Amino acid sequence: MTYLWLKAGHIIFVVFWMAGLFMLPRQLIYVHPAAPGSEEEALWAKRMGLLRKIILTPSLIVVWVLGLLMGIELGLFAGAPGLGWLHAKLLLVLVLTGFHGFTVSQSKKFAGGERPLSEKQLRMLGEVPGLLLVVIVILVVVVRYA
Ligand code: HEM
Repeated sequence: MTYLWLKAGHIIFVVFWMAGLFMLPRQLIYVHPAAPGSEEEALWAKRMGLLRKIILTPSLIVVWVLGLLMGIELGLFAGAPGLGWLHAKLLLVLVLTGFHGFTVSQSKKFAGGERPLSEKQLRMLGEVPGLLLVVIVILVVVVRYA
């Protein structure tokens, strides 16, 4: 029973984390045209800060903790056979976590008046979490049982 509650909690916080990873690049696109130091920039900086503190960072931590607890249960650190899907998944989740870190660092630069990325680059950046989500879910739902 405990394992199923871990998995339920894991999927719930995966959804929260993905929602935050879709929203932050979008917020960067909205703050991009704002004049550095303007009231509009300050308003988006506040919104991005709240998104980081209330949704993104807590969800990242809960997804990892519950995911690793289930991984331990499946023998991830005991060399259990047949976990290729989980190893591949973890590699992609590390990339997703890197994306999280990169986008958060960009949001702090934008809040400080910098615009290191163009709007076109931000739109491309916004596609990354969706692509990773598709492959991760196929790994854990299809490849795992193939
Ligand atoms: C952060 C590190 C993560 C770890 C260590 C991890 C590990 C796991 C493990 C061990 C399971 C249980 C598999 C089972 O018993 O059925 C699981 C389930 C699942 N994970 Fe993750 N996961 C992580 C992140 C993610 C992410 C980022 C996503 C989606 C983007 C995701 C989506 C899922 C889904 C949909 C399931 C349920 C699969 C099913 O019920 O068949 N996980 N995860």
